[in-house]
Amino acid sequence: MLNKKFTLAGRPIGRPISDDDFDYKEEELRNINDRELLLENMVIEFQPAQKGWMENISNYVAPLEIGDVMRCSGIARVLDSKSKKFKKGDIVSGQTCWQTHPIMNEDDIELIEDTDMPTAYLGALGGTGLTAYFGVTKISKPNPGDTVIVTGAAGGVGSLAGQIFKIAGCNVYGIAGGKEKCEMLINDFGFDGAIDYKSENLNESLGKFCPNGADIVYDNVGGRILNDCLLHLALNARIAICGIISRHKTDNMNFGPENYSNLIFKRATMQGFLMLDYVSETVVARKKMKKWIEDGKLICKEDLREGFENAPDTLKGLFDGKNKGKQLLKIAD
Ligand SMILES: NC(=O)c1ccc[n+]([C@@H]2O[C@H](COP(=O)([O-])OP(=O)(O)OC[C@H]3O[C@@H](n4cnc5c(N)ncnc54)[C@H](OP(=O)(O)O)[C@@H]3O)[C@@H](O)[C@H]2O)c1
Repeated sequence: MLNKKFTLAGRPIGRPISDDDFDYKEEELRNINDRELLLENMVIEFQPAQKGWMENISNYVAPLEIGDVMRCSGIARVLDSKSKKFKKGDIVSGQTCWQTHPIMNEDDIELIEDTDMPTAYLGALGGTGLTAYFGVTKISKPNPGDTVIVTGAAGGVGSLAGQIFKIAGCNVYGIAGGKEKCEMLINDFGFDGAIDYKSENLNESLGKFCPNGADIVYDNVGGRILNDCLLHLALNARIAICGIISRHKTDNMNFGPENYSNLIFKRATMQGFLMLDYVSETVVARKKMKKWIEDGKLICKEDLREGFENAPDTLKGLFDGKNKGKQLLKIAD
């Protein structure tokens, strides 16, 4: 049997990702050893951080070297097992990477027991959902009635963060690109308002939605959008810095933020965070998120593409705003 894979061939530093940044390879599968499993990768997930791993200029995760299989999480079916913990047919999650048939150690995967919602373990119950949950509960610390701005609101993290703020009783306004995404924020996710940053004057619209300023800005984007948000803060505002997706197409680091002086006048706090800081609290967070999903309070929108050969293109699409909700790619049934 063959394992098909994409390995890292180039580092997209200061430029968008190109097809030449990946090598496609096929290899004969080796036999598995004790405590190893042969998996069939079924669905893999995409997130902007993958470009950062390709660049290898931050050191918060193990380096991704040229020639390594491109890293991502996935859910997979066990085809063969020399582990006492897993049996053939089990559905598991882990860092299965951009390959069709990973061989993994039993310590590096997790059994998915809720086989009725397996892909949720890549979205709301995976790193994306946990980022939203911890960014809201640990950094933003919402109070009922707070006015909240979420940037990158129609993506995986933003759409979940906005809904968690709603559960906390906040008034939530999302910023996203395009009319369709803005309608989705209001109609599907229950946001109180949405701003299309591509066609509206962001400053004016923020002023309209937040006449007394925002108590919380949950920022996935950085750059000029964050800069505008900083002009619309309430006293003692909290700004949770989750991501800086706007930097990925530029040839320099992020613009600004010039308006950071408003932090002084509004006695505001701007704090970055990593979901990884809170992994010890994953079980409790997942339990809560799962209950919200079951109660219909949290919708995990998935944007499912198909075909292993589309992995590079699917990753590139995140930076063109092609995804609505969590971007996934189906590789096998
Ligand atoms: N701190 C952590 O621990 C942690 C963990 C996971 C993710 N993150 C970060 O959280 C952020 C969101 O991740 P995600 O998985 O939700 O992303 P996602 O689902 O891929 O959403 C990305 C969305 O960002 C928008 N976007 C892209 N380029 C933009 C630009 N130049 N200006 C404004 N909007 C832009 C696009 O939507 P539009 O059509 O609206 O432009 C795109 O659909 C990322 O920056 C990611 O790195 C942080």
